[in-house]
Amino acid sequence: MELRLKGKKALVTGASAGLGAAAAMALAEEGVELFINSRDETRLRAAAQKIAEKTAIMPVVCVGDVSRAGDIERLDSQIGAVDILVSNAGGPVPGQFTDLPGERWQEAADLVLFSAVNLTRMVIDGMIERRWGRLIYLTSIGVLQPINDLILSNTYRSGVTGFCKTISNNYAKYGITANCVCPGYTATERLASLAASRAAEGGVSVESVLKGLAADVPAGRIGKPEELAALITFLASEKAAYITGTSIPVDGGAVRALI
Ligand SMILES: NC(=O)c1ccc[n+]([C@@H]2O[C@H](COP(=O)([O-])OP(=O)(O)OC[C@H]3O[C@@H](n4cnc5c(N)ncnc54)[C@H](OP(=O)(O)O)[C@@H]3O)[C@@H](O)[C@H]2O)c1
Repeated sequence: MELRLKGKKALVTGASAGLGAAAAMALAEEGVELFINSRDETRLRAAAQKIAEKTAIMPVVCVGDVSRAGDIERLDSQIGAVDILVSNAGGPVPGQFTDLPGERWQEAADLVLFSAVNLTRMVIDGMIERRWGRLIYLTSIGVLQPINDLILSNTYRSGVTGFCKTISNNYAKYGITANCVCPGYTATERLASLAASRAAEGGVSVESVLKGLAADVPAGRIGKPEELAALITFLASEKAAYITGTSIPVDGGAVRALI
């Protein structure tokens, strides 16, 4: 399938590891001009090197914390116009309501919701001018079926979902699509730390937590980051011009809802 992504300029945030790194790799394989972001310069440079070794693309490294509006302003001056935004970062801390003081709520809002809002503000005027844009927000299957020990994630990712839908309603007429992709349990550092926290809580091994998660998925296994990245690449392409305002799970069937 010809995705016609060559020459498009893409920014992937949270791209030194996990789902963001996989999305960056998949977009590079399609020949985009690539900018990657995360907080840790050493990790980010290593991710860029890996992409350069596997593809013809050497990504531009843009260090910054997307939970800080000031860092996003710096990214804006470094990068300029962006055609494809993949808005992603680490997940907020796990825990139930009574475990989480107010500061954790503010940090999670900045990390999950306001990063998406500020990144969108950074790119949307240029997309309107050029009458073309792709906004892709990483959320979670928690917006379709809330996960008990992830109240911060459930709450603010639902906010991102409402934000994305409203943006899609208002800007589709300019050739801009806005969609959420919802990973199920996928093998990354985030999943490893989540499994470790559940293992400690339940007094069981990490392996048994991961086995339990996989057993609950109709596909019978945990997902691979490349499987989410394939959807992101398709949504970024010309072929996906008529798909907007959606939230698409990539979860091996884990969410049991009909639609
Ligand atoms: N993996 C799953 O099973 C799963 C399922 C549902 C939803 N999700 C969500 O999908 C997102 C990505 O997940 P993942 O599994 O790839 O996570 P991950 O393995 O923890 O990777 C997170 C990436 O984001 C970067 N990052 C973290 N905080 C950042 C910040 N404030 N500003 C910029 N970059 C930041 C990290 O690099 P630095 O440390 O260098 O900044 C790293 O590159 C998370 O929000 C996660 O909660 C994941």
